[in-house]
Amino acid sequence: MLAVEMRNITKYFGSFAANSQIDFLVEKGEIHCLLGENGAGKTTLMNILFGLYKADEGLLKIDGENIEKHSARKAFQCGLGMVHQHFMLVDALTVWENVVVGNEPGKFGVDRKTAVRQVQQLSDNYNFGLSAEDKVAGLSIGMKQRVEILKTLYRGAEIIILDEPTAVLTPQEADQLLDIFRDMKRQGKTIIFITHKLNETKAVSDSVTVLRGGRSVYHTATEDVTVKQLANQMVGREVDDKLERVPGKEGDVIVSLNKVRILDNAGGTISLDIHAGEIVGIAGVEGNGQMQLEEILMGFQRCKEGSIVIKGEDVTKWPTRKRLQKGISYIPSSRHERAILPGFPILDNYLLGNQYNEKFVKRGLIDYTFLNRTAAESMKKYDVRAVDEKQAAGSLSGGNQQKMVLSREVEKNSDFVLVCQPVRGLDIGAIHYIHEILLDLRRQGKAILLISAELTDIFQLSDKIAVLYKGEIMDLRRNEEFTRESIGLLMAGQKGGK
Ligand SMILES: Nc1ncnc2c1ncn2[C@@H]1O[C@H](COP(=O)(O)OP(=O)(O)O)[C@@H](O)[C@H]1O
Ligand SMILES: [Mg+2]
Repeated sequence: MLAVEMRNITKYFGSFAANSQIDFLVEKGEIHCLLGENGAGKTTLMNILFGLYKADEGLLKIDGENIEKHSARKAFQCGLGMVHQHFMLVDALTVWENVVVGNEPGKFGVDRKTAVRQVQQLSDNYNFGLSAEDKVAGLSIGMKQRVEILKTLYRGAEIIILDEPTAVLTPQEADQLLDIFRDMKRQGKTIIFITHKLNETKAVSDSVTVLRGGRSVYHTATEDVTVKQLANQMVGREVDDKLERVPGKEGDVIVSLNKVRILDNAGGTISLDIHAGEIVGIAGVEGNGQMQLEEILMGFQRCKEGSIVIKGEDVTKWPTRKRLQKGISYIPSSRHERAILPGFPILDNYLLGNQYNEKFVKRGLIDYTFLNRTAAESMKKYDVRAVDEKQAAGSLSGGNQQKMVLSREVEKNSDFVLVCQPVRGLDIGAIHYIHEILLDLRRQGKAILLISAELTDIFQLSDKIAVLYKGEIMDLRRNEEFTRESIGLLMAGQKGGK
């Protein structure tokens, strides 16, 4: 029996079809993966199912019942529950309060004792390990997510949609979440699990639907498909997944951080050397000081304690522009705020940061002949796909924007390359290309600091890995000395996680 039957669903935003004629069928009691790259239309489709958006066309049945006038209220009555990408919890309240808020039993408010007991029972039943009376504020992200799931269960949801729930978790937390899915399935629930991670899809789901460019392009029983086939469906062509990181030669120290404090309330400071010809990866759950590390290195934030040395010179007190001139190629984590002028032509974006570079300026005036030539060459070399160099940078796809930024920064030929969240929001093809560029820079002998929330990237690219937790480095070793498990424990703040 089908729990969800969506047929021919089309949804426009303006003239853009985020969903086109999508068929999406979920069997009762299964774990169904909705797989697709960023922007494929997954969240839109689920928002339609959950009654938050109205489809422009199409048919929807829940448990065989034709849904004519859909709404969030109706979705709830039909037994749907959704855990969104961004949690909607009140930190100052307890677990049980968060679970029952907006769903108080009886007319006369909540019977506290009963509510606490029910919430605790539910949590125990699914092995969530929560205490109903704990404050939400003190919980880890993984635990907060369980509170969100508990909310849907408490409301009696039978079909539970989770939108990219593992994106914010450590590897262990993600594995535990998959176990929870299996538990919920055993108790008869239907799970719709949205992800772009193929291994998770393979590990937990019974069947899978792949969206690409707003269309459903593939549907299969998970056991009949390989990870590689899924990747090809997701991207729409053969994916080249081989990446070679031959052992490198470590050169001189290019950048040193000496006892630098990156978070005011951190228990300690961080020290780190980056040599020529190596990639040092910073692993960690986001929000553990990655952003501060980036800003302090670039001089956007003052370095209050410790010192930063680049090529033998103490730059701790230098302003950003002077550091850039000393030689930093910088790929920022916030592309739109720091790396591109979205409303300006690509050409102007190639000038960005080069206004003081003597190659670009002749007798105080910008040398447009040089700029034009550089932009055209870079776009060709790095496969930046655009109509022409007059196109607004912001109208390029994420992958092409990032290639544009990388090509501009790489052409500066600096000895130190700071790369922050380089693949965020990009598709597999673009990610692979960017990985190759970074490895090429390593071969050229650049010193590279890679800050990334994607553990896969850290492992594929880094020579050494430092694990950041609450503003401190928990451990720093050669890549080969870590496993996904040992890093996962360190990311969660457990020392000695080997
Ligand atoms: N409210 C909106 N207004 C305009 N465009 C939107 C809106 N929501 C999503 N889109 C666009 O629709 C496409 C699909 O988005 P989404 O469903 O969020 O994809 P996914 O969840 O698969 O990453 C994207 O190109 C996105 O920019
Ligand atoms: Mg989404």
